[in-house]
Amino acid sequence: MNGKDYHGLVKDLQEKEWPGKFDPDFEWTRTRGPSGYDTFAPSHHFKSYRPLMTEDIVRDLAINRKRLLSIGCGPAFLEQLLCSRLGVNPSQVSLADLSREGVPEGFTFYQFDMYQEWPPIKDAIDYIIFPECALIGVPTSDDFEADQSRCRQALYNLISRSLRLLNPSGQVRLSGGGIGSCRDAAIERVLSEFPNISYGHTGEEFVYITK
Ligand SMILES: C[S@@+](CC[C@H](N)C(=O)[O-])C[C@H]1O[C@@H](n2cnc3c(N)ncnc32)[C@H](O)[C@@H]1O
Repeated sequence: MNGKDYHGLVKDLQEKEWPGKFDPDFEWTRTRGPSGYDTFAPSHHFKSYRPLMTEDIVRDLAINRKRLLSIGCGPAFLEQLLCSRLGVNPSQVSLADLSREGVPEGFTFYQFDMYQEWPPIKDAIDYIIFPECALIGVPTSDDFEADQSRCRQALYNLISRSLRLLNPSGQVRLSGGGIGSCRDAAIERVLSEFPNISYGHTGEEFVYITK
């Protein structure tokens, strides 16, 4: 199925699962999530210009029983739909967030600040995703250089910690505002530690790295 058709399929499935919940144009919830953040429809994460998720990844999860860790999960509509309609078992999915508020039951959950030390995560993980939350909350100021330096450090930390956790050939996929401005510098630093990675991006708000 091409990406556009698959995006449409996910849109249909989420409408069946949560009738009227998501704005069909913007593909987020009509009201903000419990912690005051925007909360996105699963289909948003399959958009061609920020493909945090793809049909191939869903198939890899559903058929090959790969494991997913979603950091900054919020109410986890994407992760719930993967399990309720797309053949993934909840035991394959772990969730993480700064706050427990609104996080669905039935998944392994880790509560931590992704910018600080991570707790021990024992599961072997094949995909780590940061859905619309990479760089969220990194403080900004009127000093552009200082802001850029904080973003580079934060993105480097998220990627390098993820790579340490991932199985060989695993992927980390991040979406969120501000990635484009510090992506290349952060990846250059990651490359000095993990020279065998490959990476790519679509637009300015999405990047993926393969271990
Ligand atoms: C824009 S919402 C996205 C929620 C969900 N992933 C989605 O796509 O709808 C950002 C999420 O990041 C979480 N978050 C913010 N700062 C965080 C941090 N320092 N560590 C972990 N999670 C954080 C928030 O609690 C919120 O659930």
